[in-house]
Amino acid sequence: MRVLLVGGGGREHALALGLAGDPSVAALIAAPGNPGIAGVAELRSVDASDPAAVAALAVEVGADLVVIGPEAPLVAGVADAVRAKGIAAFGPSAEAARLEGSKAFAKDVMLAAGVPTARAFACTDAASVGAALDEFGPPYVVKNDALAAGKGVVVTEDRSAALEHAEECGRVVIEEYLDGPEVSLFVVTDGEAALPLLPAQDFKRVGDGDTGPNTGGMGAYAPLPWAPPGLVDEVMRDVVHPTLAEMRRRGTPFAGLLYVGLAITAAGPRVIEFNARFGDPETQVVLALLETPLAGLLHAAATGTLAAHPPLRWRDGAAVTVVVAADGYPAAPRTGDVITGADRRGIIHAGTARRAADGALLSAGGRVLCGTATGPDLTAARDAAYALVRGIELAGSHHRTDIAAAAVDGRIALPA
Ligand code: AMP
Ligand code: GLY
Repeated sequence: MRVLLVGGGGREHALALGLAGDPSVAALIAAPGNPGIAGVAELRSVDASDPAAVAALAVEVGADLVVIGPEAPLVAGVADAVRAKGIAAFGPSAEAARLEGSKAFAKDVMLAAGVPTARAFACTDAASVGAALDEFGPPYVVKNDALAAGKGVVVTEDRSAALEHAEECGRVVIEEYLDGPEVSLFVVTDGEAALPLLPAQDFKRVGDGDTGPNTGGMGAYAPLPWAPPGLVDEVMRDVVHPTLAEMRRRGTPFAGLLYVGLAITAAGPRVIEFNARFGDPETQVVLALLETPLAGLLHAAATGTLAAHPPLRWRDGAAVTVVVAADGYPAAPRTGDVITGADRRGIIHAGTARRAADGALLSAGGRVLCGTATGPDLTAARDAAYALVRGIELAGSHHRTDIAAAAVDGRIALPA
């Protein structure tokens, strides 16, 4: 089949490697792609969030399947526009993507479906914000109601910082703090049948020891040696299937990738958030371990035939990815710096570009590259990922040094 991949970050580079490795893929086209993706796909330029432009490109390249990576195109209705041309699209409709696009909508669906999550209030004015903060007490959790590329959430002990974030956002969701290690579980679904991928863990804060501001994600690993047995079955039963059923009931079935962000609390798994697409950088580790051909899996989800898909197969061992971020990320990333040492297997491109004059590789975003490696166990995968990162030269760049460290050392405790 001919596949068009929409997007151009680290997640899409990982998706491109998976799609290119599927023998059923005769041609892989990526738009807009990035210099890493260019190694395995033909690049086309497009405004990824323009539904008509993406649909026209899908027709032009004769795509049999369009895979939509980032959230903004999904929320804008790119999947709907592609399907309207009679082309299979992996990614939810704009209506269903509201599970990610609006935190308040997601809470409403969870409430209706009986999904375990933090208690929450949607607030628009200072008085209701203050009342909600005091109802839950510290640490305070204040979320921008709209899409914010993983940076719209403030978790703080400081009541005035919480109030300030709420004021900056306008419409916010304020919720109870969930205490416990976090899990990202990706579920491929056609709206009815659903196949979970391996659970992974992401590192959201910019600094070692989970310090500093939230980011889009600074690293990840899979699988999770500390995860309680039965976790995935429990989440499928208590979260995923009730949510899919509620979305069908509303006449807006969710088909694509349901990303369930969870905290494993003393009372059991609780949903922190839903996303409507693969997570970044967790995709880099999850797909590194997936043996099942990726295009066939996504095509089955896009065409409502997932129930007939064979069970997923996984490689033994573990995978770790470490993000190399630009100077100033996340507040004010600097771009345009020359990168060397990136031309190695396992280097995933996120925010990179080629200089027109000489083809030099430049930083072009906050998260610039990821070093992704597999190994027979987590220790080996972690060592290999850090070896890749050490080989990269980029002025002012920074990365976390503790990705997967607590898991390797057996220091992750489930709350009793
Ligand atoms: P979100 O964008 O909703 O995933 O939030 C980003 C990050 O903020 C999460 O990965 C958590 O680390 C943290 N967070 C969000 N909601 C909560 C909560 N209710 N309790 C504790 N931490 C949270
Ligand atoms: N890794 C977090 C996200 O993709 O939202």
